[in-house]
Amino acid sequence: MSVRSLLTTGLLAAAVLASPPGYGNTVTVTATKEVTKYSTITKTASCNAPSKYTSHSKSHSPSHSTSHSSSHSTSHSTSHSTSTSATHSSITSSATSSATSKTSPSSRSSTSPASSSSTSSSSSVTTTSSSASNTNPSTTILATATATGYGLNDAAKAAGKLWFGTAADIPGTNELEDFYYMQEFNNTHDFGEATPGNIMKFMFIEPEQGVFDFTGAQQFIDLAHATDKYVRCHNLIWKSELPTWVTDPAVPWTNETLSAVVYEHVYNVVTHFGDQCYSWDVVNEALADSPAGSYDNSSIFYDVIGPAYVVDAFQAATDAVKNNSLSVKLYYNDYNIEFPGAKSIAAQNIVSELKARNIQIDGVGLESHFIVGETPSQASQTTNMQAFTALGVDVAVTELDVRLPLPPTAADETQQVADYYSTVAACVAVKGCVGVTVWDFDDNYSWIPSTFAGQGYGDLFLQPGGSNTPLVKKAAYDGCLEALTGAAESSP
Ligand code: XIL
Repeated sequence: MSVRSLLTTGLLAAAVLASPPGYGNTVTVTATKEVTKYSTITKTASCNAPSKYTSHSKSHSPSHSTSHSSSHSTSHSTSHSTSTSATHSSITSSATSSATSKTSPSSRSSTSPASSSSTSSSSSVTTTSSSASNTNPSTTILATATATGYGLNDAAKAAGKLWFGTAADIPGTNELEDFYYMQEFNNTHDFGEATPGNIMKFMFIEPEQGVFDFTGAQQFIDLAHATDKYVRCHNLIWKSELPTWVTDPAVPWTNETLSAVVYEHVYNVVTHFGDQCYSWDVVNEALADSPAGSYDNSSIFYDVIGPAYVVDAFQAATDAVKNNSLSVKLYYNDYNIEFPGAKSIAAQNIVSELKARNIQIDGVGLESHFIVGETPSQASQTTNMQAFTALGVDVAVTELDVRLPLPPTAADETQQVADYYSTVAACVAVKGCVGVTVWDFDDNYSWIPSTFAGQGYGDLFLQPGGSNTPLVKKAAYDGCLEALTGAAESSP
């Protein structure tokens, strides 16, 4: 039995809740602040790290490896099936401006270049059948080409969602220099939203205390708005990818001094970007997996301030929204809250606590970094989303990918189609789920191989020839499209 099955049946949940000490599944955000000496803090990230990937694998990956991975299993069963093989030569789609309503990114942001580029330049997508240097060409199953170029974002909007979107690590990796990658990123048929994979994180935005660098983040926004994409701005307060002045201060932080840092960072950044962002992930991954639903005590913010740092961050964002009359939405974002259980309940408690304090929270991001065959069922994801929307907040699938052990087998690839289908279909079924974002769309630039040893193949496209060669659509793409169009067809 997988870890997730154990959790959902309550067996493991009961076991971990029994282990002291912890907040268990009755996590409450309180204003009580604990002052903890900084000297006990484990440093998690460094500005001097040679690359974001390096810094990530030092800091973030251990918890993710533990939390997201468990023994690989193919026992997940689902009745969904889809066509799993097709060869196709090329898809050419004429670009159209995807957002024309008053809620479109361009209309919300007067500073966005989108207003001057409402018809995006060519976004034709060239895909090829898989050949030479694919990870495992013999078992690669491909998506079916659509003659019209009708894509994931078109179908998401037809299903009543705001977008189908993607994260991209721009600027930061070589995506920007990859013609074929950028061609697909700019394909408005597939992507109507973009999330910066790294460039808005604390270490890049405020590398020195009080010194803000918005250059790269603005470049990302401009690029996304050029094809009328919404931007989910990501993220303000997280334990990882922090500058050394936060993780290793000259003078140890106190509750008061670090709370002021949280407030200043959040307030200034939300104010600066304003309504160029559709939403902000104000606090990222505050909760732990063990004991499930407790606060993650490896965060410097938790260590010094206690759970009140979550309240502080949302209060600062709320103040920025009010003082600047913004419409940007404020989200809490986390993983392992995509299915019912102690951690999801703890996230719901954060929502309730903030609302009880009249602090703005508009949504919860369900990261959805899944493992093939261990993706929660569509029903369990739907039920879980409804538990959040019942509290009066939206949900969004914010970081979807479905990784598998390399090399992929045909069985894993088929299961991956079903897993993508389950998550997208759950979002379609829940009115308050505003959209689905994949955590990049091209295996060539995925965070998975550098974070989870031996795993990969988690995205919707691959580049068999490597960087700057044509993309190939996997069958997983079809799993998403079918989940989206199935709903559209059944709608009155
Ligand atoms: C990841 C990026 O993809 C990596 O490039 C970086 O090294 C570490 O962070 N949850 C999140 C994202 O909220 O910000 C993380 O992104 C993936 C897990």
